Amino acid sequence: MCGIVAYVGDREAYPIIIDGLRRLEYRGYDSAGVSIINGSFNNYKKQGKVSDLEQLLEGKDLHGTIGMGHTRWATHGVPNDVNAHPHLSGDGNLSIIHNGIIENYASLKQALENLGHTFKSDTDTEVLIHLIEEIRKGEKDLSLEEATRQALQKVDGAYAIVILEKDNPDKIVGAKKSSPLVLGIGDGEYFLASDASPMVKYTDKVIYLEDEEIVTIERDKGYQIRTIENKVTNPKVLQIDLKIEELEKGGYDHFMLKEIYQQPVTIAESMRGRINAAEGWCKLGGMELHMNRFLNAKRIILTACGTSWHAAMIAEYLFEDLARIPTEVEYASEFRYRNPIITPDDVIIAISQSGETADTLAAIKSAKTKGAFLYGIVNNVGSSIPRETHSGSYTHAGPEIGVASTKAFTSQLTVLTMMAIILGYQKGKISEDYYHRLLSELESIPAQVAKILNKSEQIKYIAGEVRNASNALYLGRGYNFPIALEGALKLKEISYIHAEGYPAAEMKHGPIALIDMYMPVVIIATNESAREKIISNIQEVKARKGIVIAIITEGDDKIKEMADFSIEIPMIEEPLSPLLSVIPLQILSYHIAVMRGCHVDQPRNLAKSVTVE
Ligand code: AGP
Ligand code: GLU
Repeated sequence: MCGIVAYVGDREAYPIIIDGLRRLEYRGYDSAGVSIINGSFNNYKKQGKVSDLEQLLEGKDLHGTIGMGHTRWATHGVPNDVNAHPHLSGDGNLSIIHNGIIENYASLKQALENLGHTFKSDTDTEVLIHLIEEIRKGEKDLSLEEATRQALQKVDGAYAIVILEKDNPDKIVGAKKSSPLVLGIGDGEYFLASDASPMVKYTDKVIYLEDEEIVTIERDKGYQIRTIENKVTNPKVLQIDLKIEELEKGGYDHFMLKEIYQQPVTIAESMRGRINAAEGWCKLGGMELHMNRFLNAKRIILTACGTSWHAAMIAEYLFEDLARIPTEVEYASEFRYRNPIITPDDVIIAISQSGETADTLAAIKSAKTKGAFLYGIVNNVGSSIPRETHSGSYTHAGPEIGVASTKAFTSQLTVLTMMAIILGYQKGKISEDYYHRLLSELESIPAQVAKILNKSEQIKYIAGEVRNASNALYLGRGYNFPIALEGALKLKEISYIHAEGYPAAEMKHGPIALIDMYMPVVIIATNESAREKIISNIQEVKARKGIVIAIITEGDDKIKEMADFSIEIPMIEEPLSPLLSVIPLQILSYHIAVMRGCHVDQPRNLAKSVTVE
């Protein structure tokens, strides 16, 4: 999951490329580099962030109207200057940038070394540009795109690549398989990028390349797309409505904070046109088209990674509690390899913010071969997962730039909750009265979230009290157990404090040994159904001098009295409580990370979209 951007047209390429890299840096940021052609072949690259590359480039001659840039998240070869992209061919005439993994790079590298090739880097990417060079040695007049096509036929793995040729300053070749690549079509100018954000300032016309497609762009001649089998394709040009201001911080210190505060709006957006409590209806277009599939499903299997997997965990409670459909949750990375038993009576729901997570994409491709019906719940319109599923519902949370997922998560929960309510009602598993109550309370969620956001200063104070902890435990029961997992993930991924989530009852089966006066224990104590049990868990922690931070329902004075710190959230029907109980945990982790001087939007070692396995 790195960031790729390329340009050819009448404008200076460098400013477009470097601005594009800044917008794509959330995809990976351990090193960065550019190639610009202006009579000479200018290739610069450096370990570090895009800003470090900019410093390196100060004073350099970067004029030129064709070029490309890359911001890396290493898979092969440590992050350093040499392993940064672009990589050059042996003769220095070709330059490549790449997102993905060449699975068979080692055997290709060996074969090329036997032919006399020498390599500067430890990356898989450098092997690919040498392979293209080798193929052209055999046939001098072979076009760059044809040599690339022949090379890719020898490659196993995932790629989004862009290649430039020193002696051909009018041509860009790109290709894609599993990793994303978008073609932007301007007025006499063209863009290639990992997503649309680098090009929205210049054009709203895009083509999302399909797997095994190769695009050749020639200045003044336009573009042509062929498959790896050399068939010309003519994909539809889409018009995107991404606005540039959506990609800016809008006055917030971090994208993550902006996205936390956007949630009243984004949760409403994920319901827009899909629910009307007053009139008593709720519907999801993608689901309506296949309603019998859902109503007759013998089982629902949810598959995802990370925070999206936590959304899947909550959906398991929702589908079984409200719709009484047997439901299972699978880590996509496990699901794709363990040869699961899948039947055509199964409905498989893939949940993904980016729509590009390699493990989730691979899991549904594998399930598809076993005849399952695939439904996607994705935020990133036009991404790979929606193109693989039979149907789906977009979450409409808008671009999520912060690596730590917040608004996309609550939008996923909103869609999943609507699905469970629809199915529960259509299957006669929930009463008319409960159905209407759930719809009405779901519609009130945006306003309830806004109330919790107003407690940020109180939560910031609590953050200050626990910011130096080395470890933390998050405990919850029922619907709030996955929220405990999500709260722990938020804390660890942006503040680097080791945090674990557990079902509260599990504490006495081991984790309680960890509790001492230095251990903050966040306990989500909003469930009415298990209140007495949660109260005993709090007592168990207090008896061992643990620091209790309780998320409680407004007015719960008893737990408020017992806890060291408490954050009140509005009373809501239990199936909807995760939409509220997660908000204080997002804010708490944000403030702790800021106090610890961490890079909140681009935490170390992480990237926004894991498009490599
Ligand atoms: C969540 O905060 C993390 N950024 C990460 O766990 C993320 O949820 C995971 O990589 C899945 O991404 P996706 O939703 O885009 O598939
Ligand atoms: N596999 C390539 C490398 O490690 C590309 C990684 C990426 O997608 O950023 O350099």
